[in-house]
Amino acid sequence: MIRIKVNGTAQTLADDIDPATPLLWVLRDHLHLVGSKYGCGAGFCGACTVHLNGAPIRSCSIRAADVADMDITTIEGLAGKHGQLHPLQQAWIEHDVPQCGYCQAGQLMAAAALLRDKPSPTDADIDSAMSGIFCRCGTYRRIRAAIHSAAAASAKPAEGKNS
Ligand code: FES
Ligand code: FES
Repeated sequence: MIRIKVNGTAQTLADDIDPATPLLWVLRDHLHLVGSKYGCGAGFCGACTVHLNGAPIRSCSIRAADVADMDITTIEGLAGKHGQLHPLQQAWIEHDVPQCGYCQAGQLMAAAALLRDKPSPTDADIDSAMSGIFCRCGTYRRIRAAIHSAAAASAKPAEGKNS
């Protein structure tokens, strides 16, 4: 029996789930969290990116058994508890980032991990953190602009407190 915690909720996986099943399939097919997308299934495209204990990982390339008792956050868990959008989601809307949208859950999860580690990232930081998340629609410039906007928006309350 495998236990995982997804978006703050403990989940016990059914006994008939093969422990070697990739996490992405567990999320999509068994927990019905279909925001994380299947792109390549081989760790190359980043469409399946989720957070594992806070770090971005490719959920297609890690076995369910290897994430037992760990905290997983998917795109469905990025917004606040009461549904308030993450600053990145807000910025994504403001910059009209998605085109077809297929890669965007992975983009947002990678960007969220970046902002947690570097609240005011440079262009180089963004390019480095996001380089492995492919977008066939070429939304990279809007992604970069949206990340800068979200960083600025997140910094505002802290600045206000000190003034
Ligand atoms: S689907 Fe996981 S990296 Fe492409
Ligand atoms: S928005 Fe279409 S693949 Fe990125």
